[in-house]
Amino acid sequence: MNLEGKQKGFVLWLTGLSGSGKSTIADKVHERLVGDYKVERLDGDIVREHITRGLGFSKEDRDENIKRIAYIAEVLSRHGVGVIASFISPYKEERKKVQDKVTNYIEVHVNTPLNICEKRDVKGMYAKARKGEIPNFTGVSDPYEEPENPHISVCGDYEENLEKIVNEVIDYLRETKHIM
Ligand code: ADX
Repeated sequence: MNLEGKQKGFVLWLTGLSGSGKSTIADKVHERLVGDYKVERLDGDIVREHITRGLGFSKEDRDENIKRIAYIAEVLSRHGVGVIASFISPYKEERKKVQDKVTNYIEVHVNTPLNICEKRDVKGMYAKARKGEIPNFTGVSDPYEEPENPHISVCGDYEENLEKIVNEVIDYLRETKHIM
């Protein structure tokens, strides 16, 4: 299928706390678009196993993590691919650098409150962080700088909301003509 002309390159950047639902939302958006559009997923846990293996969670390492991801997102989006990226990316300045670098940056703040992320504790990391077993844990012992003007803001708190959130994101991409 010729996919040219059906879309623009873009970077849909999901930022939010660990356990906020970023990856789940991003996976579903990708699932809905793949096949009809050129899309690629970049996800925190996966990227950190490969491209940024060895980096930790100090500010310096997080910045380096985001910098390398931004490089890949820049190349892909410049070539017309829709990148769906999910990273905590806690620092405003680093997100701004991604925005300045890539083609058509769209920020999605997954603003699930900390208490809900912590209650869920999908990976059991909040419990460990509270006990001091994981240092620099975002929201517990490390900062998360909230986006001020995200293009989209969603709360990934309840499972039944998922379909609604995915529709909202896809509607936005259509309305803004990133996908036709
Ligand atoms: S970022 O801050 O550099 O953007 P990234 O999204 O790549 O973070 O990775 C976050 C994932 O790493 C979390 O979902 C969690 O599973 C894991 N993790 C391990 N240690 C930490 C920590 N100290 N703070 C936040 N997440 C951590």
